[in-house]
Amino acid sequence: MSGAQGLRTRYCGEIGLADEGRQVSVCGWLDRRREHGEHLVFLDLRDHTGVLQCVVDRRLALKGEFVLQIRGTVQGRPEGTANPALATGEVELIDCAVEILSRAEPLPFSPHEDVDESLRLRHRYIDLRRPRMQGNLRIRAKVNAAIRESMDAQGFVEIETPMLIASTPEGARDFVVPSRLQPGSFYALPQSPQLFKQLCMVGGLDRYYQIARCLRDEDLRADRQFEFMQLDAEASFVGAEDVMGFITTAVGHAVLSATGEEMPKPEVMTWQEAQDRFGSDKPDVRFGMELVDLTGVFAETEARVFQAACVKGFCVPGGATEIGRNRIDELTAMCKKWGARGLAWFRVRGGDSALDGALSRFLSPAESATLLELLEADSGDLLMLIASSERIVNRVLGSLRLELGRPPLDEGALSPVWVTDFPLFEALDADGNPIPAHHPFTMPHPDDMDYLVRGGGESLLKVRSMAYDLVVNGWELGSGSVRIHDADMQQRVFSALGISPEQAERRFGFLLDAFRYGAPPHAGFAFGIDRLAALLAGEENIREVIAFPKTQSGSDLLTGAPGPILPAHLAELGLRPAIPATGDR
Ligand code: AMO
Repeated sequence: MSGAQGLRTRYCGEIGLADEGRQVSVCGWLDRRREHGEHLVFLDLRDHTGVLQCVVDRRLALKGEFVLQIRGTVQGRPEGTANPALATGEVELIDCAVEILSRAEPLPFSPHEDVDESLRLRHRYIDLRRPRMQGNLRIRAKVNAAIRESMDAQGFVEIETPMLIASTPEGARDFVVPSRLQPGSFYALPQSPQLFKQLCMVGGLDRYYQIARCLRDEDLRADRQFEFMQLDAEASFVGAEDVMGFITTAVGHAVLSATGEEMPKPEVMTWQEAQDRFGSDKPDVRFGMELVDLTGVFAETEARVFQAACVKGFCVPGGATEIGRNRIDELTAMCKKWGARGLAWFRVRGGDSALDGALSRFLSPAESATLLELLEADSGDLLMLIASSERIVNRVLGSLRLELGRPPLDEGALSPVWVTDFPLFEALDADGNPIPAHHPFTMPHPDDMDYLVRGGGESLLKVRSMAYDLVVNGWELGSGSVRIHDADMQQRVFSALGISPEQAERRFGFLLDAFRYGAPPHAGFAFGIDRLAALLAGEENIREVIAFPKTQSGSDLLTGAPGPILPAHLAELGLRPAIPATGDR
């Protein structure tokens, strides 16, 4: 059924042969105009649903992108003139009365053109007219609606948390807002609603969700913007599996609503398994070339390059012929950039399946044979090996595997994976303090408490956490964890992080207080709406699913933000810029 009303009775794209003989009124932008002499003019009128051909019997002073209302009668196109490429290609509008609702000056670019992104962003309102952007934003709206529907159905309550807050650490820099009433003091804009949702649990709300705007001042990339949206959720008296279930249901519902297809059931693997098999905590399981541990093969080796704590490799099927020497040199340079000393490679020759490569003379026959067997290699394949520490081997081979095999983001079915049991800390900083892998409110794994209580330094890196990520097609869609709900445990983790009780009291005293007044066990999750919408729209960059995104350098080319503000306004805030304002415009 048509939802058209107001100036129009129907949308352009929904008119078909069933409407033949009907009088309709359609509104939109003049997409194209073709004149066949004085008395036969074709106007293609476009709205967000599609394009309709309207036939006019005289020339009118119209230009592209004029906004028109056209009233006329639907008729089937004459024999032989149907356009199968157009959804409305079997019909046209005749006996048309055309009214100009708004004129348009010549546009900086046509909605039909693919132009430079900065031009698109500067005139985003024109870019938004293109079917690609129309489709993407509507997919996004479906995702939002489906998520709300699913979270409501699962008993979650939508709660809005504040934007002007004290800092919530998520590993990025805060955007800050100066306070006028308390000069010299600042609010932070939320990197996430993390602490408020935990306070909601202490407040007995039981199941919270919000489609929350979050702000992080970090370097922008294809999957990162300063401001982005999260489905943010938290639930009481539940564990990791329950939360993974709630989120799988919500994401699955969004996928179904946006694409009409069921999302495959997510695989579940531990962080360690993801590292072992894919060299990554964001495993792209859509293709093979899994990593194989070869350390044992080289236990007694004479070859110095393979005398390392860890040796792993993978097999590139058909790579011996497809990957030339120049490309191998390029890949070797990449491996060095990622932290390896070099890349060991071997071509598997035909016939005797012997190994060819700069290092092959260092391999004993037994080592060659075991390599071939463990890597399940055949003649014509290429073997890639890295020897170093386990951490470097995984990182380098994981990146190399993606470089060689990663399909486009939207190729094939969605491949969701839950990655569980992340380490609590990802590394030690220069002062020897561990850096949290998630955020400092994550519950340590109960089996690893000993390392936390008695350990220090490197042994802290062995502590696993109750944190889990959802990864789809190699993209981190979201992450969450079971939380600490006990003030003493929270203090212990703060101490491990080098945060003293005084500092903890100053920054998070309100949370520690809350935990003293009856905090239920709770767990939660957040995933990026922009990333999910991009995945479902088949876009590699989240800017394509955001109506008004920032450029790579953080500018809004449309409105000119960021820009200087008036000296009087600054004075009111008690501020004086140390350097003159700079900007992209
Ligand atoms: P985290 O920091 O992993 O977790 O963020 C969750 C998800 O938010 C999305 N995301 C982003 N999307 C676009 N641009 C960005 N700059 C950006 N940063 C993050 C990603 C990411 O997976 N409070 C925790 C969640 C929790 O523990 O419940 C948090 O925010 O898709």
